[in-house]
Amino acid sequence: MKIILLGPPGAGKGTQAALLMGKYSIPQISTGDMLRAAVQAQSPMGIEAKKHMDAGGLVPDSVVIGIVRERLQEDDCRGGFILDGFPRTLPQADSLKQVLVDLDQELDSVISLQVDTDALVERLTGRRTCADCGKGCHLRFDPPAQDGSCRYCGGELVQRDDDREVTIRNRMKVYQEQTAPLEDYYREQGLLVTVDGMSDISVVQQAIQAALQDC
Ligand code: AP5
Ligand code: MG
Ligand code: ZN
Repeated sequence: MKIILLGPPGAGKGTQAALLMGKYSIPQISTGDMLRAAVQAQSPMGIEAKKHMDAGGLVPDSVVIGIVRERLQEDDCRGGFILDGFPRTLPQADSLKQVLVDLDQELDSVISLQVDTDALVERLTGRRTCADCGKGCHLRFDPPAQDGSCRYCGGELVQRDDDREVTIRNRMKVYQEQTAPLEDYYREQGLLVTVDGMSDISVVQQAIQAALQDC
């Protein structure tokens, strides 16, 4: 299964990708997670990327395309993958197309998660991520352990640097301007499926799995 999860910041791409990964035993490829790892490692690319990420803007296409091209060539992607947060611009989508031609692979489906703006802000402001295992949760909708630690490993929960309200608003604007046009791009290719992302996490997961059965 080769899937793209499309959707604005906070739509639930990472949450749903983690569940799909368990269901189909295919890797989640999150450019956001990969960039945050580069920031943490303070590599030259990470230092450059951090400036864009902290402002809520996009990291240059050439950087992100290079990361994804390398990742898709790894062995664990042969049986499929879930792209989470990539592509985000038309040039990224065109590059992905070429990479997949080179690898003799084809996309099965592009799932676009639909969530209202107010809900997005609430999800992002309440999101926490484990500093140890990297798993995400939500203070209200997907609560941590009773002592406030990660319920998977007991690690410390931290807030992402770009989950402040002013940065969130800019990420949403950037999404509308640069990423939303990808809906039409994939609709024209007959790959787009829109899924209501407003329900509970498990209900959204069921809707995605139902959509994937048809492809
Ligand atoms: P990235 O990490 O991809 O961030 P994003 O797209 O803004 O999306 P998020 O990760 O914030 O949201 P999500 O949809 O994964 O939601 P989640 O499942 O966590 O990118 C970060 C930055 O990196 C970008 O701004 C850019 O600078 C750079 N970047 C990354 N990729 C790039 C690219 N391709 N090109 C250029 N630059 C790139 O859910 C959010 C919260 O809601 C969680 O707390 C969760 O528990 C909760 N939740 C989830 N589902 C539900 C539900 N159904 N009901 C209630 N709560 C829910
Ligand atoms: Mg995410
Ligand atoms: Zn943890």
